Amino acid sequence: MSTKHFLHISDYSKEELWDILELSRIVKSKFHKREDYSVFHNKSLAMIFAKPSARTRVSFETGFEWMGGHALFLGPNDIGIGKREAIKDISRVFSRYNDIIMARLFDHEHIIELAKHSSVPIVNGLTDYNHPCQIMADIFTVWEHLGDIENTKIVYMGDGNNIVHSWLHLSMRFPLDFVCCCPEGYEPDAELVKRAKESGISKITISNDPVSAVNGADVIYTDVWASMGQKEEAEERERVFKNFQVNEKLMSLTGKETLFMHCLPAERDREVTDGVMESDNSIVFDQAENRMHVQNAIMIKLSEKWK
Ligand code: CP
Ligand code: NVA
Repeated sequence: MSTKHFLHISDYSKEELWDILELSRIVKSKFHKREDYSVFHNKSLAMIFAKPSARTRVSFETGFEWMGGHALFLGPNDIGIGKREAIKDISRVFSRYNDIIMARLFDHEHIIELAKHSSVPIVNGLTDYNHPCQIMADIFTVWEHLGDIENTKIVYMGDGNNIVHSWLHLSMRFPLDFVCCCPEGYEPDAELVKRAKESGISKITISNDPVSAVNGADVIYTDVWASMGQKEEAEERERVFKNFQVNEKLMSLTGKETLFMHCLPAERDREVTDGVMESDNSIVFDQAENRMHVQNAIMIKLSEKWK
């Protein structure tokens, strides 16, 4: 792996990303057989959460312990990162105890700061800016279901948020037909969109029209309209986003068989109907499961630098 940390998908080459996906397939099969796979015996993973989590916490903790290591959960009130203590102090202290640090933080600059001062790998478990482990698990899930990744048409419907930023990072490495369809004023970071387009790898479209956006979609993907840290805007967003709901009607407009994806947690009957979540084309639980396998592969790849 060319860098010590896992902060952005675009920090890695296409070959390195494929290595992670291929290893994910191997570790997934080993997990399903509950093979003994103690590659992290006597190692510890510190998990710092400044925001709530279900999947990220349980998948990292279960995955790391299955691989023979010990995972520690530190919740929002435990260490007060950046409040009770400077980030660079936490970073250096934890580097003395732990072999890997996973962090879910608000401000993206804080995870950059954590990485800058850490002598052990930092894994980004979501910031306000991006969510790289999620999108690696998502593309692995697409690969499993469609047998290919290249030129897949992924239509993201909703807020141009951290999930979209990681899709854009991925689109700078794998050729995709990626559409972000959002209300005006809720587009992803303009600078990143420009960079992704300029990389010339993928077709990138930013749309404000759900009906035309979904035409030919292999995958329709959505996320909550108000992310963690924005819940006070939820009422206003509900009004602005109401035409961007993924419902049975929208799923039927693609003109082909289309998979439905959501990073979860989902707010049923808001951004997606209960019917679409429960439909045969919904692969949301495969996505959730794959978080663990792909993260296990990422941590194994990062640990190769220790040897
Ligand atoms: N998708 C995801 O990261 O879920 P959690 O917020 O529950 O960890
Ligand atoms: N955009 C969502 C993703 C949750 C996994 C949030 O940041 O809350």
